[in-house]
Amino acid sequence: MDKHLLDYNLKVRLPIILFVVIAVFAVTYYSTYAERNGIGYSPEQPVKFSHKLHAGTMQIDCKYCHTGVDKSRNASIPSVDICMNCHTLARKDRPEIQKLTDYYEKNRPLEWKRIHKVPDFVYFNHSSHVNKGIDCANCHGDVKQMEVVGQVNSFTMGACLQCHRKPETKISNFEEIKGNLKKGPEYCAACHR
Ligand code: HEC
Ligand code: HEC
Ligand code: HEC
Ligand code: HEC
Ligand code: HEC
Repeated sequence: MDKHLLDYNLKVRLPIILFVVIAVFAVTYYSTYAERNGIGYSPEQPVKFSHKLHAGTMQIDCKYCHTGVDKSRNASIPSVDICMNCHTLARKDRPEIQKLTDYYEKNRPLEWKRIHKVPDFVYFNHSSHVNKGIDCANCHGDVKQMEVVGQVNSFTMGACLQCHRKPETKISNFEEIKGNLKKGPEYCAACHR
């Protein structure tokens, strides 16, 4: 090959090609970050249910609806029956409540879109965290302020381990509950059983 052409390729073309490759990688990496770890996922739900109104303004306890949270692995999503404890009367003239009543009367389950999820090969248990006094907000953010729930924290293996290794940096009320708290496990079989 001609020496000039080689020089040109090395000094001009190669840096441009490298730059383009790195730039494309960086842009794809950051633009798919949220999708890969779920942060920011906040789907529209079949009924416009607001946590800000029910759990924030009206201060209904999380456990009134998420009944499994201190008893089992799953927090559980309330059935329409629980909503109807109030909505057979409350705001029954509103379109969203009429929609709700329709589900109830036809005995159709409301298919809420799932937001937070770990893969099936991971073992996670709500009760063993919640009963030690670890507040929901440490993992789910300030749900009481959310009109529509979305994921704010990462739920990767790294994120679990960060708190298991250094709970004092991840649990906001750590000082209050530390007396009765062990460190979370780091051995593989704890979460992969
Ligand atoms: C009146 C019932 C009710 C109360 C009270 C309530 N929730 Fe919910 N919650 C729901 C319903 C219904 C859904 C499913 C629809 C949605 O995502 O908004 C849900 C969804 C969620 C989700 C997302 C579930 C997923 O798919 O990942 C989280 C997290 C959550 N609630 C946390 C809380 C916390 C924390 C509190 C207390 C501060 C609370 N909720 C109080 C009814 C309730
Ligand atoms: C403890 C009683 C109670 C429970 C349980 C409850 N709600 Fe409500 N909800 C209310 C009250 C009261 C209002 C009206 C608040 C206001 O407008 O100030 C309301 C308002 C609403 C609204 C807004 C209506 C509008 O357009 O003005 C929706 C939608 C709604 N609730 C859905 C639900 C769903 C879905 C559930 C079950 C997951 C549920 N609620 C459970 C008491 C309750
Ligand atoms: C230590 C972190 C952590 C804490 C604390 C926590 N959660 Fe969760 N939550 C998770 C994880 C992880 C998932 C996904 C679980 C799965 O896919 O099986 C989840 C899922 C959920 C779901 C989806 C449905 C279900 O049944 O699992 C709801 C609802 C929920 N959490 C509510 C709550 C409420 C309410 C509290 C507080 C009383 C709470 N969580 C405390 C980590 C946490
Ligand atoms: C905000 C802090 C925090 C986060 C985030 C967290 N954990 Fe934990 N976890 C703890 C603490 C603290 C303990 C020990 C509690 C005790 O027994 O005193 C624990 C205990 C456990 C245990 C042993 C108890 C049991 O249920 O068998 C498992 C398994 C576990 N965590 C899984 C997970 C997984 C999986 C995730 C991520 C999806 C996760 N944890 C995220 C704080 C956390
Ligand atoms: C505190 C809980 C926890 C512990 C302890 C833990 N893992 Fe995980 N692991 C997870 C979670 C949650 C996921 C799924 C989310 C993800 O891929 O980051 C996962 C995913 C994985 C995956 C799949 C990765 C992928 O990209 O699909 C492998 C492999 C794995 N873990 C191996 C291990 C090994 C080996 C150990 C022991 C050295 C271990 N894990 C300890 C929680 C844990």
